[in-house]
This record gives sequence, structure tokens and C-alpha cells, in this order.
Amino acid sequence: MKQTIMLKVDSQQPDIKQVQVAAKIIREGGLVAFPTETVYGLGADALNSKAVLALFKAKKRPLDNPPIVHVENMKDVYTLAEHVPPSADKLMKEFWPGPLTLVFKRSKAVPDVTVADLDTVAVRMPNHAVALALIKESRCPIAAPSANLAGKPSPTSAEHVFNDLNGRIDAILDCGPTLIGVESTVLDLSAEPAMVLRPGATSLEALKKVLGDVKLHPFVVAEKELAVEKARSPGMKHRHYAPKAPVTLVEGAVSPVMATVKSLICAYWLQDKRVGVLATAETAWAYEADVVKSLGSRRNVDGMAANLFRLLREFDEENVDVIIAESVPTEGLGLAVMNRLRKASGYHIVKAG
Ligand code: TXA
Ligand code: MG
Repeated sequence: MKQTIMLKVDSQQPDIKQVQVAAKIIREGGLVAFPTETVYGLGADALNSKAVLALFKAKKRPLDNPPIVHVENMKDVYTLAEHVPPSADKLMKEFWPGPLTLVFKRSKAVPDVTVADLDTVAVRMPNHAVALALIKESRCPIAAPSANLAGKPSPTSAEHVFNDLNGRIDAILDCGPTLIGVESTVLDLSAEPAMVLRPGATSLEALKKVLGDVKLHPFVVAEKELAVEKARSPGMKHRHYAPKAPVTLVEGAVSPVMATVKSLICAYWLQDKRVGVLATAETAWAYEADVVKSLGSRRNVDGMAANLFRLLREFDEENVDVIIAESVPTEGLGLAVMNRLRKASGYHIVKAG
């Protein structure tokens, strides 16, 4: 068991001394959780195999699911990637720093463990002063998956990180809740056509404006578990975002969804289950269940994205036996929210109407 230290830092004007304490840990091969604009990441020196192995171990993450490598400088992309296509220049100019991860053919500079033996590397420049300062002070690119135990919802606050990883990592830079709340969009540029491997905080609509056509990997919109093709989509087969209680996702138009949620509540109550419902501002009033939580208004998908992982974690504290979740609109960040809900449910989806 390690002693995990908490370093509180202001997210706008970070105290550089605290960041330097964290950077020294990274340079010495240690593990530091830090905020980004999306979720908290668990960082290690991306070029230090031993540190990256320790990162997988601390998270209990399967070794075949590589982390994203975070940079604070465009130059580093050219060290990490063997080939940077012209479309990447456009995307980096438009969206970096920001929640877009780009997958490139990797260079020899990247250790095998950092990319799980793939011939590609995923890179992003986060839009967060503390993350950028940490990478700069560490003087190395930082490999960072989300700072949760594998399989759990991603952490949107330092408390979430602490609850999962206290005693397993060296330090947590605490800057309060993250702004966006769902992870970056992962876009594969290593092959033609460019393809979204994970929908996220950079919307498909925004990518289309820059790239014209963008393909969605079948996994992004999958309504059931699909067979995995290792080379392109390493992380997709693993269980994700799951609260303790099993989740049933009810999909369809609002009225039939409400009717189905109500009948599921009754069915579970007959089995003496403690029932949680993840509803929206427009519908929450209509449900009588043991615990009802609202993601926020259906008209504000960004707000729903910001609340999602926190609410999934809150259900764990309420000790519900089952969770019934409503589907949400899929425009903008809604696509990422629905993808996370489907994964959280293990594709236990009921079509309403
Ligand atoms: O917003 C985010 O992306 C956060 C913050 C901390 O930056 N990070 C994050 O990392 O969500 P993680 O490890 O939880 O998710 C990384 C995703 C996984 O789905 C992984 O399979 C994929 O990126 N990935 C990593 N390297 C890849 C590669 N070479 N090819 C394809 N996908 C890759
Ligand atoms: Mg993750």
C-alpha cells in the first residue's frame, strides 16, 4: 500500500510548486492522477516501460488496452508518430488543445507496453492548464488512461479517483470537478478512411465540418456486443463504466420509454429489488422508485454528459439492486452519452414502443 498524497491546485492559476512536486514523481517513474477538461487521467512517463506497466497494474487494466499519450507541444507528435497525415494538421489546429485523440502509426520512440504492442499510438493535447503544466514540468509525454479502476465509470472529480485508487498511486492533483465529464473522441488516422473509434467530447458534427466525411466504427453505435478486431479497436471489448448494480437501458421515444420504465419498476418491486432510475429533468417527476436521479434536461446534452459518471457512481452509494436508465438524444455529446450508457448496461437494452 502506498501513501497517496492529495495536491490541491487552482485550475485557472495553478500553483507551480504543487505541479512540480507531481512532475518530479512522474520523472521518477511514479503515478500521478491529474485533471483534464474531460475526466481525470492517471499519468505515467509514456517513454518509461516500467512506469507504464505500473500504471496498468494500479488500474487493474488489461495489458491489451493501451492508454492515450498526452502532449503539451505539437512537436512531440512528430516524435511519437511515424507518419502525420495532412488531415491531422488541420485537426490539431482546429481542436487542440482539446478533447480529440488522434491515432497515428507509431514511431520507434514509443515503448511496446505503452501501445500494447500495436503499430499505432493514440495522442492528445488536453485543454487544461494543470494538465499542460504537469506535462511540461515532467519533460516527457504522459501516458494516461482515465483514473478509475478498470471497468468503473471514469472519474470526474478527485474524490472519485481517491475512492478507486487510494493506496495504489503516488499522488492526485485535485482541481475540483472536470468541465466536460465524458472522455475525448478517439479518431483513427492510421488508415483510410479516418474513423471514430470512440465517440466523445468532440462531436461528430464538428469533425465533419473539418474533414467532410467521417466514418463511425460499428462499435460506436453498436446495440450489442460485437466481435473485436484487435488491430483497430483494442479497448472496445472490455467491460466499461459499470456501476455495482446491473443497468437496463430503455431506448425509444420519450412516452413509450416512460411507460416501459414504469412497468420495469413494478416488475422489479415484485421481486423485492431496490430500484434506481436514471431519468431526465423532463421525466424524473413521473417515476416512483427507490432512488430517482436526473441527468438534466434532454435539451442540454452537454449538461447530461457532465453529470453522467458522477450519477452512475452515486447509485453505488445508494445500494440499489438494479438501475433502469432512459436513452437520451444522440446529437452532439449525446452520442457519447448513449455509447457510455450502452456499455454501462453491458448491452442490456430494452426497446420501448
Ligand atoms: O478524455 C480522455 O480521453 C481521457 C483523459 C484522461 O485524457 N482518457 C481516457 O483514456 O479516456 P482511456 O485509457 O480510458 O481510453 C483510451 C481509449 C481506449 O478506448 C483505448 O482503447 C483507445 O483510447 N486507444 C488507445 N491507444 C489506441 C490505439 N493505438 N489505437 C486505437 N485505440 C487506442
Ligand atoms: Mg477509461
